[in-house]
Amino acid sequence: MKKRIEINVALEVFSKDEWTEMDAKLLSEAEKILENAHAPYSNFLVGAALLLENGQIFSANNQENVSFPVGVCAERAVLSYAMANNPDIAPVKLAIVAKRREGMELATVTPCGLCRQTINEYEYKFGRSIEILMLGPDDEMFRASGIDQLLPFRFSDLND
Ligand code: THU
Repeated sequence: MKKRIEINVALEVFSKDEWTEMDAKLLSEAEKILENAHAPYSNFLVGAALLLENGQIFSANNQENVSFPVGVCAERAVLSYAMANNPDIAPVKLAIVAKRREGMELATVTPCGLCRQTINEYEYKFGRSIEILMLGPDDEMFRASGIDQLLPFRFSDLND
């Protein structure tokens, strides 16, 4: 072996008394909108709320399709809408909440690969990190400080 390249990643876990007011607001918006998800095939409801640097908040949910791969995740739905309407305003924080339709407990969801790549795109576009908050059961909040924590070795030049 000529060389070994290692990246360490971490998620931080916070209890409710440690959330910021904005964390609580975004998680609550995400939890509210998951109820409107169009998810008749998986019955897995996901809500996402996005904060832009000017304070605007957008939210969306997953939109499935009878042709399964056509479905869109909540994260990409909210990023696409917010960025379509605010092409010059950086997104700074994304909250994600999920649950099974019949379930009482929240599921702990981290974004899928496509969504990670999409989050990466807007970090790259604006040159700043997007914090990612994921709510689990018992009001535990998992926090990734940026997409580098979820998508190490993402598409980029390793020499940069
Ligand atoms: N889903 C999301 O919306 N976001 C995620 O982070 C994980 C998965 C959706 C896709 C599909 O509609 C359903 O959840 C089950 O995978």
